[in-house]
Amino acid sequence: MPTWIVTGASRGLGRHLAAQMAARGWTVIACARDAGALKQLADAHPSGRIRAVAVDLANAGDLRSALIAALADVGFVDGLVNNAGIGAYKPFLDHSEAELLQTLQVNLGAVMQLTHIVLPGMIERRAGHIVNIGSDLGRRPLANMAAYVAAKHGLTGFSHSLLREVKQHGVKVSLVNPGIIDTDFGGATEGSKDEAWSLRPAVLANLILQIIDQPGATTVDELSVHPLGQGDF
Ligand SMILES: NC(=O)c1ccc[n+]([C@@H]2O[C@H](COP(=O)([O-])OP(=O)(O)OC[C@H]3O[C@@H](n4cnc5c(N)ncnc54)[C@H](OP(=O)(O)O)[C@@H]3O)[C@@H](O)[C@H]2O)c1
Repeated sequence: MPTWIVTGASRGLGRHLAAQMAARGWTVIACARDAGALKQLADAHPSGRIRAVAVDLANAGDLRSALIAALADVGFVDGLVNNAGIGAYKPFLDHSEAELLQTLQVNLGAVMQLTHIVLPGMIERRAGHIVNIGSDLGRRPLANMAAYVAAKHGLTGFSHSLLREVKQHGVKVSLVNPGIIDTDFGGATEGSKDEAWSLRPAVLANLILQIIDQPGATTVDELSVHPLGQGDF
């Protein structure tokens, strides 16, 4: 059974994905800051299936030591889903400098750091899959979200460039660009958005599993997914 790292597993899309992986019997290294929510997730599955790693991805120093300790425990990972993300909808100048840097670090810097940690093992084993959760805002602009949009555009470039570098080593890189998802993102409440204009996180998690399930030589390099009723895509 494979072992995967899922970041942002305490709620939203990442929680649904980690739960669906664990239900298949996979081992999931579930990362987020909220240790209580991760424990709840772990307790809901057979012992050892979900390994909770409480880590603040905004803290570049802590991230490396936390992940290396988790990896030492499982040996190697088959895949990494870089799902954790933050974004506040407000004018650029209303963001503090600390908020701007945190937005870049959580959405992009941490993705590169985690990839840097797991990639050598994948290349050595000539197998592995990195799935990056981007956004439709990785392909288009939006006023009042400049830092988030910049980070997601960066993630688009990173994913496609890295794929061209590592596919010769048997490693896949996939980018998933969703439109609006019915989660807590940006201060919303999961379950409060209409299905006509927001994606169900469980449905999206299942789609991501289908990308992961593609046989050896097939890779999905980018997938764009929207609710039909979303106006701006
Ligand atoms: N919701 C949307 O409409 C939408 C649309 C397009 C793309 N996306 C993308 O989809 C992905 C999942 O978002 P979501 O909708 O599921 O959001 P969410 O419900 O807000 O969940 C975000 C997850 O990221 C984790 N996270 C945030 N900051 C973190 C930090 N500093 N360190 C560690 N973990 C951190 C959170 O855990 P803790 O708070 O416990 O740390 C949480 O588990 C994100 O990459 C987002 O950009 C979302």
